[in-house]
Amino acid sequence: MPSPAVAFAAENHPRFLEELKELLRIPSISTLPEHAADCRKTAEKLAAELKRIGMEHVRLIETKGHPLVYADWLHAAGKPTVLMYGHYDVQPADPLDEWHTPPFEPTERNGNLYARGAVDDKGQMYMHVKALESLLAADGKLPLNVRVLLEGEEEVGGEGIAAYVATKPADLKADFALISDTELFAPGLPTLCVGLRGMIYTELEVRGAKTDLHSGMYGGAAPNPFVALAQIIAGLKDREGKILIPGFYDNVEAPSAEELAAWKSLPFDEEHYRETEVGSKQLVGEAGYSVLERTWARPTLEVHGMPGGFIGAGAKTVIPAKATAKISMRLVPNMTPAKAFAQYKAFVEEIAPAGVDVSVRLIHQGDPCLIPVDNPYIQAATKALHAVWGKDTVFIRSGGSIPIVGDLDRHLGLPSVMMGFGLPDDNLHAPNEKFNLENFRLGIESVIGFLEEAGK
Ligand code: BES
Ligand code: MN
Ligand code: MN
Repeated sequence: MPSPAVAFAAENHPRFLEELKELLRIPSISTLPEHAADCRKTAEKLAAELKRIGMEHVRLIETKGHPLVYADWLHAAGKPTVLMYGHYDVQPADPLDEWHTPPFEPTERNGNLYARGAVDDKGQMYMHVKALESLLAADGKLPLNVRVLLEGEEEVGGEGIAAYVATKPADLKADFALISDTELFAPGLPTLCVGLRGMIYTELEVRGAKTDLHSGMYGGAAPNPFVALAQIIAGLKDREGKILIPGFYDNVEAPSAEELAAWKSLPFDEEHYRETEVGSKQLVGEAGYSVLERTWARPTLEVHGMPGGFIGAGAKTVIPAKATAKISMRLVPNMTPAKAFAQYKAFVEEIAPAGVDVSVRLIHQGDPCLIPVDNPYIQAATKALHAVWGKDTVFIRSGGSIPIVGDLDRHLGLPSVMMGFGLPDDNLHAPNEKFNLENFRLGIESVIGFLEEAGK
């Protein structure tokens, strides 16, 4: 027998889906200043909805950037308190011409909902809101105390929420956190994520001549900052993917033997992953480590783009005065952003070729995290997931980052339950992002079941 809340969710599912589509139509792209009003509009819409379903003390919390949304319901005396987290901001949608339907016109196709933010994280965050609505509507109360905290800057490093959490506000007093923003290891396989990589995101600028120069008149005598930049980048990593920054691996903590053994028994087909998810002719990376180790438990360094110089359609013979690169590093447990950045900066300055000046800027950072699983909340989660999915939960890590999760642990002592329902091929941050509609439905049921279980 489904609980009254699950029955309510089932009856109201078509409406839930339409509401999600409305949210997805707002292009709340946190990194683009021209979308700041869209971010605020999304926050206001969520606040209004939280109020409508019966949450209390609903308010926007202003930050230096996009606002946080807060709500609570604290009438379950003697029961634990959960802090439910999600983010309402999304990544930019480019390249637009690769989308089969427009990114901000949510479209159902083959059992999926396609839109920017469908799975990351509006759809997943909205599962929380709809689970709360279902419980409040069906039972007139919640099975435990609930605080909701939504942010609009996760995709740009989460500075605002980090500053707020660091003040340890009374409004965040809780026993554990529930995070909406992760994925299932495979379709139909209930999954809890117990580790995330941290990151430092940097911009490296190389300056040569005082102004752009004619490449015929000055080529041969003037330094070329793009060539220098390429030389620096090539010096950061060897051909196997090992990072060459001195001391970079010093603090890397290897996964335990138990964790590694558990990863070996996950249903992972490397060839299928290569072909269908990555789509390259070969996988690359550090020798001696499995793909899961390389993406979950090893630090990495990536180049995201190199703005500058001539990028028009034709040809222009110029030696640009400056070249830049956006470079990030993923960090694993026991590494710290401060140390990694200092090591990186010193090494870049050391290997820069003659004739150019380099400057290195830290754009944002986040700590890695590894969550202990021996607590009653993880147990309640696996029990609830079994009831909905009919299977034992697998514990995985993710190579991605959710900067606030480490802060919740460090500042507030909260263990996080990272229970997400995305799929590996959901195209996060890429064209044709989607959320599987069945996962949206079962995700709401799972969250309801988990809150009921955690409140027993
Ligand atoms: N939801 C992702 C992180 C994620 C992806 C977790 C896949 C688990 C599985 C999150 O929105 C994200 O993209 N984070 C950024 C953070 C960064 C900008 C600080 C990331 O990982 O690049
Ligand atoms: Mn996300
Ligand atoms: Mn994301």
